[in-house]
Parts: sequence; structure tokens; C-alpha cells
Amino acid sequence: MTHSLLRVGIVGGGFMGRRHAETLSRSTDFALVGVADPYSRELADAVGVPAFKTHEAMMDAGLDAVIIANPNDAHVRTTIDAHERGIAALVEKPLSTSSPAMAPLLAIENVGAPVLVGHHRRHHPSVAVAKKLLTDGAIGDVLTINGMWTARKADSYFAPDWRRAPGSGVVLINAVHDLDLFRTLFGEFRSVSAQYSSRTRGLAVPDTATVTFETESGALGTYICSDAAVSPWTWDQATEDEDAFPFRPGAACYFAAGTHGSLTFPTLEVHRHPGVEDWNHSLSAEYVAVSRGDSYTRQLAHFAQVARGEVPPAVLISDVARTMRLMDAVQESAATGLTVQVAATPA
Ligand SMILES: NC(=O)c1ccc[n+]([C@@H]2O[C@H](COP(=O)([O-])OP(=O)(O)OC[C@H]3O[C@@H](n4cnc5c(N)ncnc54)[C@H](O)[C@@H]3O)[C@@H](O)[C@H]2O)c1
Repeated sequence: MTHSLLRVGIVGGGFMGRRHAETLSRSTDFALVGVADPYSRELADAVGVPAFKTHEAMMDAGLDAVIIANPNDAHVRTTIDAHERGIAALVEKPLSTSSPAMAPLLAIENVGAPVLVGHHRRHHPSVAVAKKLLTDGAIGDVLTINGMWTARKADSYFAPDWRRAPGSGVVLINAVHDLDLFRTLFGEFRSVSAQYSSRTRGLAVPDTATVTFETESGALGTYICSDAAVSPWTWDQATEDEDAFPFRPGAACYFAAGTHGSLTFPTLEVHRHPGVEDWNHSLSAEYVAVSRGDSYTRQLAHFAQVARGEVPPAVLISDVARTMRLMDAVQESAATGLTVQVAATPA
């Protein structure tokens, strides 16, 4: 079936706006018709489309869809502005800086223009395969989960004020991806205990954090993140999602162990005992095949279907609200030093 091109605008012409523009340039579903950024027209000029000072002006010029890639604390307002104009929105993560701040979005989920939340990793082929392996019991009952996101960001990354201010930092920028994916793969969290450190960069936001947790199914986990530590142990280096982060083949960033085996992710290496299941007997390794395909391209193809009303968003506001409550619990635990229960429903 042939479709007319969807007129799409980008809000925020920074790193992520450029990334979306690059993906859009290869899309046969969308025509990029504008970039809105109050502080820079660089991206608009680079791709040869009109530059707008405000997202409202761009939306009022006529859009079918919008990609929202402005700073975190602007996501909710911009999404509501799109929704009020009947424009389908793909909004970057984190959806908001806290659960209370995103509450107005819950009211718009099932009415009018659709909203897809940009947890792009959920569209990566390895996620569906890993989820199926876990659901099919490939490693038995999951007992332990270990995850890492440790990479040294360039010092220049912290030049924009918003990246140094509360509402940003490695937890809300990077850990939110991993913890959202842990929910997708391993189910909901029951409780978390977190510690933050700003020792290396000395900013108002953490550069390093640990989270220990229990899932509702009873698995125990640890998660470590740092944007000041050098390692290849991040999703970004373990997948070929983003050219800006050199690919490190074979490096896993999550490790899950269960009663009958273990699974690495995104490498999908399954270890099991072929015979007697104890540590005195050999383990065999199986590498599960996964098709290639970057998450951003797949996310954008899905967004075209969402914008045309063909399918509901795969990543819903109400689903991500639970990720935001998890992030609230992490924040509260880091501030109080207490173990915090993760709320199953909005307060
Ligand atoms: N999905 C991912 O993996 C991923 C990766 C990086 C960033 N992000 C998200 O994308 C968003 C942008 O991050 P970034 O790294 O591109 O930041 P950035 O600082 O590089 O770019 C943000 C841009 O927004 C502009 N801006 C500021 N206020 C604005 C407003 N009110 N309206 C429109 N534009 C405004 C700034 O001038 C800047 O050009 C953040 O929410 C971040 O969490 C997602």
C-alpha cells in the first residue's frame, strides 16, 4: 500500500534532534518540514527546513507528527501542546523529571492524537528474543540480575546547563533506559535501594550510582551506572544502535542467572548444564541468533504506523509512568538511605 508522507517536525535541534533527523532522512514514511529550537537554527539549516523559535509556531504551521527532543523538563508541556493540536508525538525519554510532573499526561493517553514514548531500546530485536527466552523458561526461575552502564562521557557533554541541573544526570539520562528495560525483561520492581555519588564530576547531579533491587517475582539485582568511568559495558557500546558510540562486539551489559541457566544481554549467550546441574559439572554455551537492525529505525517505522492510526503505541504513557515511579523510588532511596517500595499505582 502506498501512503502519503507524514509531515513531521523536530523539537530540539541538539544531539538527539540530529539523531532523529538522520533516521528521518532514510525514512519513506516522513517528510521533515521544520525544526523548533529557541537557541539554535543549526539543525534546521543543516537539513534545509524552516527554523522555528517555538514548538507552538511549528505545530501551528501544520504537522501530522512531531518528535520531541528538547530538555527533560520540557517534555510534558510540549507533548500536551502537540496533543491539543491533534499531532501524533514521539517524545524522548525520560518522559518527565518525576511522576508528579508527568501526571497531566495520563489524562490524554486514550483520547485524540497518540503519544509514543521514546524508549527506543524496546524496539531492538534482541529485546523480544530475550523476553521470549525468559518467558519460555530458558534459564528457569530468574534469581539474580546484574546490569551496567559505565562509560566516560566527554567533558564537553556537560556544557549545556540542563545537563548539569537536577532533572538530568546519569540516572535520569542513562539508567532510566536500563531500568525501563529491566522492567520489560524481568517484570516489575518491588523495592530499590540506591546510592549516588557526584565525587568525580562535582556537579549537582550524580555521575555514578548503584541500585540494588528486588523484583515482584523475587529476583534480586544490582545495577551500576557512571558517566565518569571508562568501560565498554553499556548498551550503547554493546549494540550497533548509534554510530557516535563505537561498537564493541561481544560485550554484554546485563547478566541474568536462574535455576537452570544464565543469559547475557544483548549478546544472548545462554549457559546451561547439559547434564547434572551443579558447579562440579560442565556448562555449555549457546549463542542465540538475533537479526540486526537498529532501534531508532525500527522505532521510527513503528511511529509512522502509530501516527497513521494503524497500531497503538508500543510504549505507552501509562506503562512508562511505572518506570517514572521506579525512578522516583531510586531518587528517594538515594536521598534518604532507606529501601523504598516502588508504587504499583499513581499516588
Ligand atoms: N533515546 C536516547 O537514547 C537519547 C539519547 C540522548 C538524549 N536523549 C533525550 O533527548 C533529549 C535531548 O537531549 P540532547 O542530548 O539532544 O540534548 P541537547 O542539549 O544536545 O539538545 C537539546 C536542544 O533543545 C534545545 N532546547 C532547549 N529548550 C528548548 C525548548 N523549550 N524547545 C525546543 N528546544 C529547546 C536546545 O537549544 C538544544 O539544541 C533529552 O530529553 C534526552 O534525555 C535520548
